[in-house]
Amino acid sequence: MKLHPLLFEPEILSFLFLSINFFGSIIVCFILRTWPLSIFFTCLYILLMFFVNHGLTCGRHYLPIKKIPNQTVIITGATSGIGRVCARRLAQLGAKVIIGIRGQERAEKVAEEISKESLGGTVIGYDLDLSSLENVKNFAERIDSVDILINNAGSLYETYSVTIDGIEKQFATNCVGHFYLTQLLLPRLKHGRVVNVSSIAHHLVRPADLDYSLRQFKDKYHGSRVYALSKLAQIYHASELTRRYGVKAYSLHPGTIISTNLQRNRPFFRRVAFQILSMIGKTVEQGSMTTLFCALSDDAKPGCYHSDCQVRRSSQLAMDTRRAEQCWNETERLIKEKAK
Ligand SMILES: NC(=O)c1ccc[n+]([C@@H]2O[C@H](COP(=O)([O-])OP(=O)(O)OC[C@H]3O[C@@H](n4cnc5c(N)ncnc54)[C@H](OP(=O)(O)O)[C@@H]3O)[C@@H](O)[C@H]2O)c1
Repeated sequence: MKLHPLLFEPEILSFLFLSINFFGSIIVCFILRTWPLSIFFTCLYILLMFFVNHGLTCGRHYLPIKKIPNQTVIITGATSGIGRVCARRLAQLGAKVIIGIRGQERAEKVAEEISKESLGGTVIGYDLDLSSLENVKNFAERIDSVDILINNAGSLYETYSVTIDGIEKQFATNCVGHFYLTQLLLPRLKHGRVVNVSSIAHHLVRPADLDYSLRQFKDKYHGSRVYALSKLAQIYHASELTRRYGVKAYSLHPGTIISTNLQRNRPFFRRVAFQILSMIGKTVEQGSMTTLFCALSDDAKPGCYHSDCQVRRSSQLAMDTRRAEQCWNETERLIKEKAK
């Protein structure tokens, strides 16, 4: 019997561990009965529980040390979170890092900051807004060479809106913009790597959601479900890139990381609820490791989904090659129709 892949994710393991032990500590309390003793043992139990839980949430580590001086790496969305940590680490390893960020001035400022943080690494900032196909094209035209493309930028929106090209904004940013950027850079990426930062959230997609026109969400928008769909599309994109062109493309879940800016568009109470998950989450440094693993390690497997610095089984829907092909065709058609 195959266990569900979610049961191997550090945050799920940690959640189960904490829930079981919470009840365990109550039982210990009742068994001991004598109150000073039971309080003492319960505190000891909780302390031990947090210590073990810390080990569970960290997950596997990948700390690259081999220098990559002749490599050019492009990272989308490096103002904060995972993208920023990866940019810093890759610059430290000697790569030329190009970061794509909204606004030229802002991009240059962040590039300078990351260069300083990496103690003098080469970091260049270019304007990139993934929600505009024209902007993506302008960005791609500035790129001479690329060895590793990290499609990291991501957004979470709670209300329905469309981009300048008339595409639903969340899907446009997370999926369509990255798809277009990869297509434009593909001739220069034949021997390189493409890394798509997807999410565990792709498990939430139901077959009924698989309409990429997103008409189904127009009247009743469900931000998390559109986010999940865009992340599933990124898994399809990576597997199809490898299948169609033989490009080394990888998709991944970085872990649950509370201290990034991803939740900023969410209502206050949802953000607070998300903070509670910090007990089962990773730090940004730990959360950047699977991206670095897919970008650099020989143990990463092209076309596959990764989590916790190893290949991991994705959802059944994500493994469906017919649906991956369909997603590719529909995204390609959408870009042809909208790109000028
Ligand atoms: N944090 C988690 O728990 C978690 C879990 C699973 C997957 N992920 C994925 O990990 C990736 C990185 O997220 P993070 O947690 O590090 O969040 P983050 O700190 O919010 O970083 C997201 C980055 O994307 C950029 N971005 C957003 N919209 C953009 C656009 N239209 N054009 C260009 N850049 C844009 C943001 O730039 P601005 O500053 O301009 O907004 C920011 O630099 C995302 O793809 C996310 O879906 C995160």
